[in-house]
Amino acid sequence: MKQLLVLNGPNLNRLGVREPDVYGNATLKDLEAMIQSFAERTGNKIECRQSNHEGVLIDWIHEADKTARGIVLNPGAFTHYSYAIRDAIASVSVPVVEVHISNVHTREPFRHHSVISPVTSGQIVGLGLHGYELALQALLEIKKEE
Ligand code: DQA
Repeated sequence: MKQLLVLNGPNLNRLGVREPDVYGNATLKDLEAMIQSFAERTGNKIECRQSNHEGVLIDWIHEADKTARGIVLNPGAFTHYSYAIRDAIASVSVPVVEVHISNVHTREPFRHHSVISPVTSGQIVGLGLHGYELALQALLEIKKEE
């Protein structure tokens, strides 16, 4: 069975030290451990990756079209302006669910718009790290419905 892929974009390696009032105290390692425990509980193989580089994220999205059954993507600030990541998602058929830890809609106006959302299956915003589990659950349901 193909695996699920969790991709975290720029600055998410700084979780735990980065603006804890916005993103909380848990680190990327904590998040990845939570995801692995979800994987064990649900009997799925889930791979987590993080990059600060747009092109690397794009290559991973392309590759996932063959190797993954779904992608959970937190594109970080690329959310708001990366047409290249948007086009990468539009070029693949693997479903993508977009996640944001913080409630971007209560923050600076530039965070209110996602150029990514129109090409994703859905978006989960403002539910903290739990959003990743919800997104993974959603991908499992999407696959069941197909
Ligand atoms: C974020 C929100 C983005 O606006 C920000 O640039 C991030 C993290 C979130 O998870 O809340 O890096 O995607």
